[in-house]
Amino acid sequence: MSKNLTTSEGQPWSDNQHSQTAGKRGPVLIQDYQLLEKLAHFNRERIPERVVHAKGSGAKGYFELTHDMSAYTKADVFNGKGKKTPLITRFSQVAGESGYPDTYRDVRGFAVKFYTQEGNYDIVGNNTPVFFINDPLKFPDFIHSQKRDPKTHTRSQDMQWDFWSHSPETLHQVTILMSDRGIPASYRTMHGYGSHTFKWVNDKGEQFFVKYHFRTNQGVHNMSNELAAKLCGDDPDYLQNELFNSIEEKDFPSWTLYVQVIPYEEGLNYKHDIFDVTKVVSQKDYPLMEVGQMVLNENPENYFEEMEELSFSPANLVPGIEPSADKVLQGRLFGYKDAARYRLGANYEQLKVNRPINEVNNYHRDGFMSQGHDGSANYEPNSVDGPTEVPSAKIAPDQLTGETGHFKPYDTDNFSAAGELYRLFDEGEKERLVENIKSNLGQVKSHDIKVLEAKQFYQADPDYGERVAKALSLSVDEIK
Ligand code: HEM
Repeated sequence: MSKNLTTSEGQPWSDNQHSQTAGKRGPVLIQDYQLLEKLAHFNRERIPERVVHAKGSGAKGYFELTHDMSAYTKADVFNGKGKKTPLITRFSQVAGESGYPDTYRDVRGFAVKFYTQEGNYDIVGNNTPVFFINDPLKFPDFIHSQKRDPKTHTRSQDMQWDFWSHSPETLHQVTILMSDRGIPASYRTMHGYGSHTFKWVNDKGEQFFVKYHFRTNQGVHNMSNELAAKLCGDDPDYLQNELFNSIEEKDFPSWTLYVQVIPYEEGLNYKHDIFDVTKVVSQKDYPLMEVGQMVLNENPENYFEEMEELSFSPANLVPGIEPSADKVLQGRLFGYKDAARYRLGANYEQLKVNRPINEVNNYHRDGFMSQGHDGSANYEPNSVDGPTEVPSAKIAPDQLTGETGHFKPYDTDNFSAAGELYRLFDEGEKERLVENIKSNLGQVKSHDIKVLEAKQFYQADPDYGERVAKALSLSVDEIK
């Protein structure tokens, strides 16, 4: 039997089809509180969408630790083989708005929130091991160049290639984006990466640098440009539907989590700057070590409450896992919680999907929509047995020397990683890469931007540069 319809205050609602009117033909009465409430609430249904990664979807599941990591980290989630931790994920596009087609060429977000016994731990990564920039100060400019032109309000190849060609550190990520991996066939068939270097600390206080790799157990599959373009029209929510339907059909996607573990001193002296997120750490130097399995076996019941109200932050860390000095990561430690306060409000951590599974005890109080605070002490120090500090959770020390200042990137090699990646591609992959660059960079009006970008492809690998030059009808002499 269906339930009684009520107002939001619980009163029975007599008629949901006809407004109260003065006489059969109207006008409507201001005493029709249900009508006014219904219209007013509707006006307030939308909240600001995420400023980036607005289009996305995800699922819930668990992480099972298959390898005890206590030699490297004291984090409870990675200690004790067999431990299962509930989690929620969200996969996303980066640049487009919330209704944007899923199959447009773009980097994909890959965010995981582990609900651990020691609080929430988030890995907020992408489906690529590197990022476009290596200084957080450049992030708003970079994103602006991906968003709509301020005059025409349309996406612009000119803007994004203008930014990229003047920011050579983007070359590695641009090469990945223009490769087959720029359009995954499914969220289930892409790898995920923490991208930055993080720090693990064990219970002896020993420190290690780590890189996270979620490798899809479904195998990597990408989509052709032709199919992607067709789906942009036929099914703009294709990736979202595909993930949802596979979970409904109990075909649960899973990923194996691996880490590269780099001893602290070795990390500081590695041949590339491990704090520069445009660079990778070679798996030959530091092979992948298996950690566990991530399985997604439950769809959200309520998209808004579980995906829109969901908030990730690289600052959500637990004891035994710490940030590294990576400048972009450091900027992100601020950015996400600030975004959440704007997008969801000061008490966003109290929303169901963001609440940790363990108890929250602190001296924060009140604010809009506060729900979680009891009437106990709201100040410290106190003599009323309020919550006390946990000294064992203190961070491990780093030794710092040097002067303050605005420094150029420490590692200025912007080209060799993109060149190495290019040389790993087979002939078909190289051809498609150049074809994708042609159809994107080829639309740019400025000859100078094309030349500047092609010069960088040339520096990565002469064959790469020459092929791009040919595709864009540039002379090879011009780009050398
Ligand atoms: C979302 C900022 C770099 C991955 C966001 C959001 C902001 C942001 C403000 C929206 C958050 C929200 O409204 O809840 C930044 C800044 C960056 C940066 C300032 C650099 C300085 C990166 C990098 C990665 C990344 C390097 C991946 C390695 C993501 C993902 C999301 C996101 C996956 C979507 C999270 C979700 O599904 O809710 N970013 N970002 N971002 N960012 Fe970044």
